[in-house]
Amino acid sequence: MNLILLGPPGAGKGTQAKKLVAELGIPQISTGDILREAARGGTELGLKAKPLMDSGKLVPDDIVIGIIAERLKAPDSSKGFILDGFPRTVPQAEALEAMLRAMGKAIDRVLSIEVPEQAVVERISGRRSCPRDGSVFHVLAQPPKRDGICDACGGPLIQRDDDRAEKVVERNKQYREKTSPLIAFYSQRGVLKAVAGEGTTEGVHASILEALPQR
Ligand code: AP5
Repeated sequence: MNLILLGPPGAGKGTQAKKLVAELGIPQISTGDILREAARGGTELGLKAKPLMDSGKLVPDDIVIGIIAERLKAPDSSKGFILDGFPRTVPQAEALEAMLRAMGKAIDRVLSIEVPEQAVVERISGRRSCPRDGSVFHVLAQPPKRDGICDACGGPLIQRDDDRAEKVVERNKQYREKTSPLIAFYSQRGVLKAVAGEGTTEGVHASILEALPQR
């Protein structure tokens, strides 16, 4: 099952991707996580990406397309994958389509998680992330058992640099201008399903499972 999770910043893509990993046993591939790890490691990729990410802008298409081309070659994605945060522009979606075609694969479902902009701002401002294992919490909706500490690994939780209110405005603008056209792109290909992203994380997960193709 080859899936894409689409939605504005803070819609719950990462949260839902982790639930699908547990349910389907296929990997989550998050370009945001890959880029943040590169930035923390101070690699050449990370040094290029960090100022763009910190300002809420997108990283150039050729860079993220290259990341995905490499990642999809890994054996763990042979039975399927969950793309989280990629594609984010029409050129990225076209490159993905060509890449998959060359591998004899295709996207089975694109789940567009719909959340109003105000709810997204509240989710992002309350998000706390674990830089060590990628776990995600929310101070009100999904608080960790111990304040500021990751339930899974015991490491300290942080607020992402791009989760400050002024950066969120730019990220939403980038989503509206560059990513939302993908809704029409995948709708034309007959693989798009919209999922209401409000409600509990379990409720959204149940709606996503219903929207998957027959297994
Ligand atoms: P990325 O990391 O992909 O960020 P994003 O798309 O902005 O998405 P987020 O991670 O902010 O949110 P999410 O939808 O995963 O929500 P989450 O589950 O955490 O990208 C970051 C940057 O990297 C980009 O700005 C760009 O610079 C660069 N980049 C990445 N990919 C790129 C690409 N392909 N091309 C170019 N540049 C790229 O949930 C949010 C919060 O809400 C959490 O606190 C969670 O606990 C809470 N929550 C989740 N679900 C619910 C619920 N149902 N009810 C209440 N709270 C909930």
